[in-house]
Amino acid sequence: MKAVIFDLDGVICFTDKYHYIAWKKLADKNGIYFDEDINNRLRGVSRMASLDIILEKATKQYTEEEKEYMAAEKNATYVELLKEMSPADLSEEVKITLESLRTRGYKLAIGSSSKNTKMILNQLGLADFFDAISDGTNITKSKPDPEVFLKAAEFLGETPENCLVVEDAKAGIQAAFDGGFESAGLGEATEHPNVTYKMDSFKDLLDICK
Ligand code: BG6
Ligand code: MG
Repeated sequence: MKAVIFDLDGVICFTDKYHYIAWKKLADKNGIYFDEDINNRLRGVSRMASLDIILEKATKQYTEEEKEYMAAEKNATYVELLKEMSPADLSEEVKITLESLRTRGYKLAIGSSSKNTKMILNQLGLADFFDAISDGTNITKSKPDPEVFLKAAEFLGETPENCLVVEDAKAGIQAAFDGGFESAGLGEATEHPNVTYKMDSFKDLLDICK
């Protein structure tokens, strides 16, 4: 293993909670049922595909234009929450683990479906930390398609066999598996049958990547 590719939301930081808050606000406003279980299905999935999952519970049909508007509204709420983030929101555990992996010689990259990746890394003080960033702005298909991780590996100049993918989403583990990557799962990602390593916490990476 020469490199580690990290998902962002729910792995490097807790922005998965902000996604939930922003979608919940939109769902409540439109009288659509939404809960944590539905939210878990949105992990790793693009903004528009997430909205389609939420609208499964809607009692009316929405036009494409209305859907674009709803997605933009959700993103505006989400971005307001992101503005409150600072380097203090990067946990000590994540910070120390990332620094240790770098000291051990691993190349480090981000592989996230989010189009807000650069803003989040900036807020956390990680704008220049990673060797490569593959995100929602350079892909045409979001997870579970492996594109985002294949691009990250390409940007790093590594083959998938040499990269470990770190994920909290089942869709992310599927993407890693289909792309030929080993994976380390957190939370519900550990339930995916194809996860290579099941982790209790982020620092377990230091036992996996010696
Ligand atoms: C992923 C999240 O990282 O990014 C998903 O797990 C989210 O829940 C997706 O929908 C897209 O994010 P954004 O910031 O582009 O709306
Ligand atoms: Mg995630």
